[in-house]
Order: sequence, then C-alpha cells, then structure tokens
Amino acid sequence: MNIVTKLALAAGLATALSTAGFAQDISGKVIGFSQIGSESGWRAAETSVTRQEAEARGVDLKFADAQQKQENQIKAIRGFIAQGVDAILVAPVVATGWDEVLTEAKEAEIPVVLLDRGIDAPEDLYMTAVMSDQVLEGRVAGQWLVDAVGAEECKVVELQGTVGSSPAISRKQGFEEAIAGHDNISIIRSQTGDFTRSKGKEVMEGFIKAEGGGADICAVYAHNDDMAVGASQAIKDAGLKPGTDILVVSIDAVPDIFTAIAAGEANATVELTPNMAGPAFDALAAYWADGTEPEKFIITESKLYTAENDPQGEYERRKGLGY
Ligand code: AHR
Repeated sequence: MNIVTKLALAAGLATALSTAGFAQDISGKVIGFSQIGSESGWRAAETSVTRQEAEARGVDLKFADAQQKQENQIKAIRGFIAQGVDAILVAPVVATGWDEVLTEAKEAEIPVVLLDRGIDAPEDLYMTAVMSDQVLEGRVAGQWLVDAVGAEECKVVELQGTVGSSPAISRKQGFEEAIAGHDNISIIRSQTGDFTRSKGKEVMEGFIKAEGGGADICAVYAHNDDMAVGASQAIKDAGLKPGTDILVVSIDAVPDIFTAIAAGEANATVELTPNMAGPAFDALAAYWADGTEPEKFIITESKLYTAENDPQGEYERRKGLGY
C-alpha cells in the first residue's frame, strides 16, 4: 500500500469515527443536573429532553429538582462536587448568589454548564452557557405588538417571570426596547406571575379588577406561555375574549399555546427550544476529547409564531416531547 492510499484510508477512518460520534464518546460520564423545578410546561420538557439526551449518549445523569429554591440548588451542586461527578449542568433559578459554590466547583476542576438562564458572576466560573438571547426574545414579542397595533393606542399589562431570574430581567428589557418610541403603546401594570399558570391567572385577575373590568387593556405580555394560558383563562372568566378583546403575546412555544393560537385565544409566541442539553453535552464531549473550549455563550434561536404558522401542526409536532 503506498503512502497516498494509507493517508486516504486514515483520513476516511477519522471522518467515519467522528461522524459516528466515537471520537467524542461521553458514555460512562457522570453528570449532575441541578434543575429549577417544574414551574412550567417548558421546564418539564427541558427535563425530559435532558434525560433522553443523557440516555442516548450513555451518560449517568444525576438529577436534582430544587423546587424553585436557590438554596436547594447550592446544596445539590455541593453534593455533586462531593460525589466527584465529571461535569455539572445548572439551570440557575436567579441570576445572583452563585460565586461561592461555583468557585468550589472550579477548585474541584469540575466543568459547569449553565442551561437556559444566565448569572451575574465572573465568566471563568462556568465553561459555557447554553441559552437564548433573552433580550431578543422580549424584543421579538414587543415588535410583534408594535406591528399588530399600528398607530392605535394600546395599554399593556405585563406578567413577569420569577423575580431576579435572567429571563424576567432581560425579557422585560427587550420588550421595553421594542415599544420605546411608540408613544401609543404603554405598559400600565407589571407584576410577577413566577412563570406559573396559576399565578399568571391570579395576577391577571387582579389586573382586570384594577382596570375596571379590563375593557381598556389592549394586550397582555407574559414572559412565558404558561402565564399567558393562565391569563387567557382570567380574561375569559371576566367575559372578554383573549386574542381579540385583549391580545396575548408570550414566550416558549409550548403545545398549549399553539392550541390557544389555533382557537384564536392567543396571538403570538417566541420559541425557546427545550433542547439545551444536546449542545451542552456536545460542548463537554469536545472539551473532553481534545480540550476544545466552547464559546462562552451558545445561543439558541428565537423564532416568532403566530396564527399564520400552522399552529395546529406545531401543536402536533410538539405534543409528545414531554411538555
Ligand atoms: O429560563 C427559561 C424560562 O423558564 C422559560 O421561558 C419558562 O417557561 C421557564 O420557567
């Protein structure tokens, strides 16, 4: 066999190995996952997809549900460090308060990957963050409203996510940026609904009551779909039509919002993929294979969906994904 043939065979073998995933095999790795809880349909789907991705790659996933409490997340991360896991995934419930525990992970040389939310901490305390551009999500939602109402006056009520969480902070900022300069649009009330359907409904009921029955409310902007679905119920209970009397725009693209859009009871949503774990495992695989450092932020897409984007079909495509 001459040298050219040998080189060609070697190159072919390398390609085949990497295509088959053998070059970046992470089977047998033990990875801890500190999940926030199950406050929304989106969160449930992220948990399911993470478990599926781990299983498909032969990863031993240690799962810890923090029941929405940062102290539980910190405890879980310390537990993972004590067990000597190979890596830690964290979906951080709030943005601040992580420096100490992440320094402990760093000292133990355990790579940390943030999933779906950002933190206010030095960037060397985590390897990468797989998340959306949350300011952009707010801007996309706000721009949809700007285009939908044109020059008409529009009083908006806002349902914020969990206080202190990066999506609540950034989605608010993005929406405000989009409506800035459109003097016909104003946010008249804004309160947290904690990303849950029940709180979204409860807070929307309060908004409607405070606004004399809701006739003057033009739109509700909810930082996630679950709160939007809860708000739609409150609008119906008040004898108004969500999607018509009060426009409904939110973020996540979960199956239930597509059902509402198909029924004309919600207007628009911005997609957030629940598959944060796939890119996270890929980044870890490359790092373990040859030390490749991933980008500090792996940003997922933020696509707008409305009644024009086959909501029934989108529902069908998503309904089996663990939402
Ligand atoms: O961090 C992502 C947000 O958290 C999702 O939009 C929301 O549904 C979840 O609770």
